[in-house]
Amino acid sequence: MPSSRTHTAIASLSLKHFDAVQVSTPVPSEGQVLIKVAYAAMIAFDTYINDLGYHATFPMIFGFNASGTVAEVGPGIDDLQVGDKARVTAFTFRNSEAKGMQEYTLQTRSVVAKVPDFVSLEAAAAVPDNFITAFNSLFNPQYLGLPYPISFPAPESPPLADVPILVYGAGSTTGHYAVQLLHSAGYKNIIVTASPKHHEYLRSLGATHTFDYNSPTLIEDINSVVTTSKIGKLELVLDCITAQTTLAAISKVVSSQGTVAVLLPLKMGSNVRSNEDDTMWLEIPDSLNPLPTGTRLAGVRTFLFEEVPYLKDNLMTRILPSLLDKKVIEPTKIRLLDEAYGPLKDRVEVGLDLLRNNKVSGEKVIVKVS
Ligand SMILES: NC(=O)c1ccc[n+]([C@@H]2O[C@H](COP(=O)([O-])OP(=O)(O)OC[C@H]3O[C@@H](n4cnc5c(N)ncnc54)[C@H](OP(=O)(O)O)[C@@H]3O)[C@@H](O)[C@H]2O)c1
Repeated sequence: MPSSRTHTAIASLSLKHFDAVQVSTPVPSEGQVLIKVAYAAMIAFDTYINDLGYHATFPMIFGFNASGTVAEVGPGIDDLQVGDKARVTAFTFRNSEAKGMQEYTLQTRSVVAKVPDFVSLEAAAAVPDNFITAFNSLFNPQYLGLPYPISFPAPESPPLADVPILVYGAGSTTGHYAVQLLHSAGYKNIIVTASPKHHEYLRSLGATHTFDYNSPTLIEDINSVVTTSKIGKLELVLDCITAQTTLAAISKVVSSQGTVAVLLPLKMGSNVRSNEDDTMWLEIPDSLNPLPTGTRLAGVRTFLFEEVPYLKDNLMTRILPSLLDKKVIEPTKIRLLDEAYGPLKDRVEVGLDLLRNNKVSGEKVIVKVS
């Protein structure tokens, strides 16, 4: 239980200006969990808010995942103990009191997962947002719509086990989890693009074909392995980056009967964090959609995952704890920003700088909070 009813948070206060602030510590009501935060994750979206004012309502606390221990629970929460041994990780995406970069964060049960003893809390903070994104993109019928696996590992092959599936930008954290989920669900033809330094690791996770997205022969290379598809083109693609250049490349390998799930917003250029003056698109205009006529463009919005009752009721409460426990999901590597980087505000500044300059490669930025 918190000793005082205020705590420290790091918040974006106005465009390009953030600081440490004191905020009141909420009391959990029906169905809510108060987490004492140990580690919080920073993602590109933190820079979208702070640097670009994108979907910002200032003041806004940083941090889209947080791991820690359960400090208090409200009425109706009967499957989480309170105390130092109650280790959890959460997708901290809602309003400021539910964001991650603060000493206490208030969550609903549906975004909180228990963490097995053998997974460190800093590693656990790397999981929720990208795990939910990967699962949602692959299995939600609105997006790629593969059948929900009954269990992981799959007891039998899924109907499309041999169909080639492209995970574009699999060096990203979403890409890592997508490959692990596909492999465990029984998919046997997992094509990925990533920097060559990630290829061996991605193969160890289950990727069957690994290509360098900077290679001049990328399109030919992908087309050369899409042989089991009836039409010689891909029908299922997940774009983990969703920039102009990634969609342009995908447009050359996807079928007009295929589906491309994209992680909105669309960025101009080729980076996760585009230039300050560039527009980011939550709705992709026809003029920026290079896909063949007929190809379905499915814009993923992970912030809405709870609109699907199955995902709301199971994804974080049951599925993620089980997958971590069975080591089906291995947390990605992390870049830990702790006391060595100075006080909490300085750690956040370092994280923002890495993200705004596209310096994050195959790892998640994790800040030690307390
Ligand atoms: N709409 C949604 O629901 C949703 C959910 C999650 C994320 N997103 C969005 O998805 C984007 C990625 O976010 P994230 O946090 O997942 O990123 P991240 O894990 O930080 O991605 C970093 C990785 O992106 C790869 N990359 C960068 N540019 C690339 C390119 N042109 N082609 C291929 N790979 C490239 C790099 O791979 P290498 O190391 O191999 O070079 C790098 O490792 C962001 O814009 C984010 O807002 C949207």
